[in-house]
Amino acid sequence: MSRLPEIREARARDIQQLLALRLEALQQHPLAFSSSPDDDRLDLEYLQKIISEDRQVIFCAVHGENIVGMVGAFVQPQRKLSHRCDVWGAYLRASERGHGVGRQLMEAVVDRARSWNCESIDVGVTSGSKEAIGLYQSLGFVSCGIVARAIVDGEHATSEHIMVLHLEK
Ligand SMILES: CC(C)(COP(=O)(O)OP(=O)(O)OC[C@H]1O[C@@H](n2cnc3c(N)ncnc32)[C@H](O)[C@@H]1OP(=O)(O)O)[C@@H](O)C(=O)NCCC(=O)NCCS
Repeated sequence: MSRLPEIREARARDIQQLLALRLEALQQHPLAFSSSPDDDRLDLEYLQKIISEDRQVIFCAVHGENIVGMVGAFVQPQRKLSHRCDVWGAYLRASERGHGVGRQLMEAVVDRARSWNCESIDVGVTSGSKEAIGLYQSLGFVSCGIVARAIVDGEHATSEHIMVLHLEK
């Protein structure tokens, strides 16, 4: 597909497609995500909750009605954590990569975090996810630590970079 996807916020009628895309992400990149298809918290009910809550969001990359990418962001409900935004589940279908769409998804997250008055955005990214590390670095995220063997999947283990973007006021 030559046209670039558009970025928009997910809505309730996207849930089945989001579940399918999430399954694809977990199957294609088992070491990039802490969840596995058989223990993923992101079921129908949880997605409904995310989509309906104020300080949670999923942005999608869409070709018309067809969702090809997603990223989630939220602020913890505790008052003392309300200055921090967390990012999860960044995924773009392989055929769409390398055209700046991942960057657009993340820019939507940065804009939303600013509108939530957050001071920073946190993300955990495993060492093998070179594209994601490059994407976050290009947006100004810095690595503030590495957790060895953060994810162990049978014979395979990987470390995780904890990355943070400080948002200027
Ligand atoms: C991470 C991901 C969403 C990036 O999407 P994308 O649309 O291909 O990324 P973009 O084209 O927007 O690239 C933005 C920047 O990321 C970096 N980047 C992208 N691909 C890269 C690569 N192969 N190596 C290093 N950096 C890379 C570059 O800085 C790039 O900017 P530039 O093109 O100006 O150099 C996508 O690769 C993906 O879904 N990967 C698999 C799932 C995954 O690892 N998720 C991360 C979970 S934390």
